[in-house]
Amino acid sequence: MAGTPAPEDAYTAEPFVAQGGSLAALREAAAGCRGCPLHRAATQTVFGTGPAPARLMLVGEQPGDQEDRQGKPFVGPAGKLLDRALAQAGLDPAQAYVTNAVKHFKFTRAEPRKRRIHKAPSLREATACGPWLAAELALVEPELIVVLGATAGKALLGSSFRVNQVRGTVLEEEIHGRPERLVPTVHPSAVLRADDREQAYEGLVADLKVAVSALGPLK
Ligand code: URA
Ligand code: SF4
Repeated sequence: MAGTPAPEDAYTAEPFVAQGGSLAALREAAAGCRGCPLHRAATQTVFGTGPAPARLMLVGEQPGDQEDRQGKPFVGPAGKLLDRALAQAGLDPAQAYVTNAVKHFKFTRAEPRKRRIHKAPSLREATACGPWLAAELALVEPELIVVLGATAGKALLGSSFRVNQVRGTVLEEEIHGRPERLVPTVHPSAVLRADDREQAYEGLVADLKVAVSALGPLK
């Protein structure tokens, strides 16, 4: 007899998302998400952190090794670089709500027991995880979203998103029925991997300054 399909076969977080709840309730529900297979190998769900509502929301790709261990977004090397760039652009990271398009760490290992190597999430996984991002957006109600890299861009704006075509500009799009303003930029990990890191870093800061001007004075 064909059994009931496992929830992860459906590739959607939808059945796990608590409707109409608080951010705390949402975070608790996300801890038990099995909406796609990524929860199996990862340590824990890494949900967004920060105030809600918040004027600014930052959306990354997925947790990395450190984030997977600590359960918080952007606490590893990419997060350190991002915090530095935000401060330089005049943004206090503590005032922003920070999250990722995908809430579980996807990785491979070159050999058993060796270091875990980041693997980009597929569009299918990012789409499965989308209901969490939509629920966060509804509660955070940001005035501006900073989109960090291609995965976040595709998750929010569709698969035709190309970061280099729109980075450092203010986009106005309807997302899940709400008009949103977004400033896309490169992912901080791409800065860490760039041949010319300094130039890539300055590019990130310049894009973040566009976000600061679009937001107006921050208190
Ligand atoms: N990269 C991301 O996109 N998110 C994190 O939380 C850490 C690294
Ligand atoms: Fe659920 Fe997202 Fe984790 Fe997949 S990656 S199990 S959809 S929280």
